[in-house]
Amino acid sequence: MQKILDQISDKMMAAFAAAGYDAELGKVTLSNRPDLCEFQCNGAMAGAKRYHKAPLMIAQEVAEKIVGSEVFGEVNAVAPGFLNLKLKESFVTAYLNEMRESEKFGMTMPVDPKKIMIDYGGPNVAKPLHVGHLRSAIIGESVKRICRYAGHEVIGDIHLGDWGLQMGLIMTELQKRQPDLVYFDENFEGDYPAEPPFTIGELEEIYPAASARSKEDETYKAEAMEATFKFQNGVRGYWALGKQIIHVSIPDLKKNYANLNVDFDLWKGESDVRDLIPPMVEEMKQGGFAYESDGALVVDVKEEMDTKEMPPCMILKSDGASLYNTTDLATIKDRMEQYHPDQLIYLADKRQELHFEQVFRCAKKTGLVNTDTELAYIGFGTMNGKDGKPFKTREGGVMRLERLIREINEEMIRKIHDNAQSKGYQIDDKEAQEIARVVGLAAIKYGDLSNQASKDYIFDIDRFTSFEGDTGPYILYTIVRIKSILSKYEEQGNRLTDMVINEALNPSEKALMLELTKFHGMMELSVEELAPHRICAYIYDLANAFNRFYHETKILTEADEQKKSGWIALLKLTKEVLEVCIDLLGFEAPDRM
Ligand code: ARG
Repeated sequence: MQKILDQISDKMMAAFAAAGYDAELGKVTLSNRPDLCEFQCNGAMAGAKRYHKAPLMIAQEVAEKIVGSEVFGEVNAVAPGFLNLKLKESFVTAYLNEMRESEKFGMTMPVDPKKIMIDYGGPNVAKPLHVGHLRSAIIGESVKRICRYAGHEVIGDIHLGDWGLQMGLIMTELQKRQPDLVYFDENFEGDYPAEPPFTIGELEEIYPAASARSKEDETYKAEAMEATFKFQNGVRGYWALGKQIIHVSIPDLKKNYANLNVDFDLWKGESDVRDLIPPMVEEMKQGGFAYESDGALVVDVKEEMDTKEMPPCMILKSDGASLYNTTDLATIKDRMEQYHPDQLIYLADKRQELHFEQVFRCAKKTGLVNTDTELAYIGFGTMNGKDGKPFKTREGGVMRLERLIREINEEMIRKIHDNAQSKGYQIDDKEAQEIARVVGLAAIKYGDLSNQASKDYIFDIDRFTSFEGDTGPYILYTIVRIKSILSKYEEQGNRLTDMVINEALNPSEKALMLELTKFHGMMELSVEELAPHRICAYIYDLANAFNRFYHETKILTEADEQKKSGWIALLKLTKEVLEVCIDLLGFEAPDRM
């Protein structure tokens, strides 16, 4: 289905051509004076110089060519030379009825779909998830869903952090506690036990203990580094123990991400590319890209046009240890060889920008990726508290994800009871809890996604959980309201099939219809920019347009059945569009709230 802006532009371009002007001047845009018109065309202004004519005259000539159009209801040439446009009700209605019946509302699918891999989540095994990981998961999940909906093949990879010092720290602490573990016995040649030597509960306790101790005890820290090195170099016992740490962490992570409505196609980690590192390093040396500098192995990634500092990309440290760069590069190699993606998208805190710039340049330069492989990095800002500083617990500690979710849910339950009371009905605790889980997640996700990813934002529980304003609960409340009207309509003995949208009878109805027609253009931008915030802005406008219409229209008591079913068809489409959009954002609506 051709986008509405393109359809109208085509008509306007034909009118420009018919009046003897360059058709290109006929591009139509959304109106920036919604009080005057719905769309506008500024082509006459641009044409004035070229044709040595007053813009208003050009506009008037073009307007005359439009008389009798099935698309435009009103075309006004106004000083100094704008064309102010309003669409015919019948045209808008036909557009919506086509949209209603088309797959994905008639969104155009790519001729040549891309294969995209998204690297997001990025939790570090055995370390608790904190709010910093929340953004990566929320934004990444939404970007994945958006690209998929747009017709691309998308693979989401969690890219576990399982290569760093935390691995050695856990092993060292474990060795202190259980020195006889077979993993630490150099002479052991048998198979290591299948049972892990710890539970997830113990693991969660071991890491902070080890981390604290390493900060006070130099020898302990050195031991942890040594253990990390052994693990990274595949020393049998250390490797087996490391795999146990990962193995025990994964089910717990899966549970946490499932609670967030986030799921990954691949559960690969940094350590999975261990065997690819030595040949990759060798190739980089052979190709003349990697060279020794102060004992370390580096690749220059500076480019002539650089205005900022661009240090070389370090591949190996002087002690031969690999780094964050190394695993990211080897992972690129793995992804290219195994999956042949056209594009790689990474989600990480914007403080990692330099890292990704270096890695991307190094990958291009050394030929790990093809010249046309797209490498994209979405660097996100910090989630701050009301004081403008990184979000903390009330006691000032690092806020863990589970706790944040608990706090949101508690506030949500309170608001759900308040709302029920003000509407004069009771909700039992069990139902309130279930609704709070669904609505609370929407509060968190919408609060995050409605900001441009790169911006820092203030996490304000009270505002995010509000049923009014630009919030997740407000959007859900709107959907719930529509669901309730639709089911009452069915209770009146009607069916939700065989309905068509009728021509708008009043301005609020037309405004709602016009909002619906913007879906395609909005989606195109959100895919192109990998920007979930576009969807949030759209559904906020759509929900507002719906609520305005709803307050002005008595739908269920309407006596004219045809009118009524037309409105119901409009409501149903509104609900479907809102539901698709929130699914792309990664949350869902309850049946009541
Ligand atoms: N594990 C990292 C962290 O906690 C994030 C990983 C981002 N992805 C990547 N391919 N480097 O900061």
